[in-house]
Amino acid sequence: MRSDRFLLACNRKPVDATPIWIMRQAGRYLKEYRDIREEFDFLTLCKTPEAAARVTLLPIEKFDLDAAILFADIMLPLEGMGIDFDIVESVGPVIEKPVRTLADLRRLRVGHPEESVPYVLETVRLARQRLAGRVPLIGFAGAPFTLASYIIEGKPSKEFILTKRLMLTEPITWHALMELLTETVSEYLKAQIKAGAQAVQLFDSWVGALAPKDYSEFVLPYTKRIFSVLKECNVPRIHFGVITASLLEQIKETGADVIGVDWRIPLDQAWNVIGYDKSIQGNLDPVVLFASHDVVQNHVEEILRQANNRPGHIFNLGHGIMPDTPPENVAFLIDLVHRLSANERAKA
Ligand code: CP3
Repeated sequence: MRSDRFLLACNRKPVDATPIWIMRQAGRYLKEYRDIREEFDFLTLCKTPEAAARVTLLPIEKFDLDAAILFADIMLPLEGMGIDFDIVESVGPVIEKPVRTLADLRRLRVGHPEESVPYVLETVRLARQRLAGRVPLIGFAGAPFTLASYIIEGKPSKEFILTKRLMLTEPITWHALMELLTETVSEYLKAQIKAGAQAVQLFDSWVGALAPKDYSEFVLPYTKRIFSVLKECNVPRIHFGVITASLLEQIKETGADVIGVDWRIPLDQAWNVIGYDKSIQGNLDPVVLFASHDVVQNHVEEILRQANNRPGHIFNLGHGIMPDTPPENVAFLIDLVHRLSANERAKA
């Protein structure tokens, strides 16, 4: 099966059925993934292109998804900046020497992808080859704020106290760190596109922690710059964050072609704020996939009703799929989104 629905929808062109892909689709809810993880620890897997490309394709071979996403992690390009990290099971990214002062910052440099993450670029090339045009390949990176939060806190955080304190009280250090991250991320995404990524998603997962005014001052200029650098690459640019309902006015200024939203805001309300000149991605609550088929169907119908057959809706979860999700519900969801949306179009 070949699918061009995803790229068409990114460009707000009509499609035969609503495209769907799932954040973290190549992850722990798949037994095939857990089996591969018996052989490789997570970072070794990311750094072994043959295996990482195989993982990228796992969900495509199992389900009727409309896009593949590169198997990698947002932390990988930090190594080239001089930041050592580890990914600790059921914790997440951990950095032994966090960056909290101007002196810490002097240890860092811009990371260049060909030198620091050649294995990611090789995974992109291999995955593209093996997909053989079946579905497009999405590349991705973490956005400067989300990466900065790990670099400053040294581990996953709920309140982001150290991050926000640095941002609010040491603006010179903050802006210098954001500059380094902006250049590193821009180069990284450009290199992924050059290697074959047909769309890119910038994950600013934790930006919902900020007040709109602080977002505008301390984050927006950098996100804007990344999307502006990428414009000349002519591939769809997706921006995603969690708990962003009250930031959408600001996020629409980033210049992304597609805005990903979580389930805490109705899709139509979000689209109305973002504007119908942009595509929207989302926004099923990942926990709904733990419920019965009836419940899943009710939620999917509601999201499709809100999208109202407008061109430019890409179905996704509002955040990553959870490790214990039953895979058969994933198959049910994908089939349902295609079937219901195709029926609606036939009626229209
Ligand atoms: O979407 C995909 O299938 C592509 C692969 C992908 C991974 N991480 C693989 C992964 C993507 C796009 C990411 C992005 C990522 N990584 C984000 C942004 C997205 C989001 O969820 O908001 C963030 C914040 C990270 C940092 C990170 N890496 C976390 C929080 C974790 C989970 C820690 C845990 O054990 O719960 C990781 C590890 C990670 N990245 C796993 C996977 C499949 C699990 C590692 C394992 O196999 O044990």
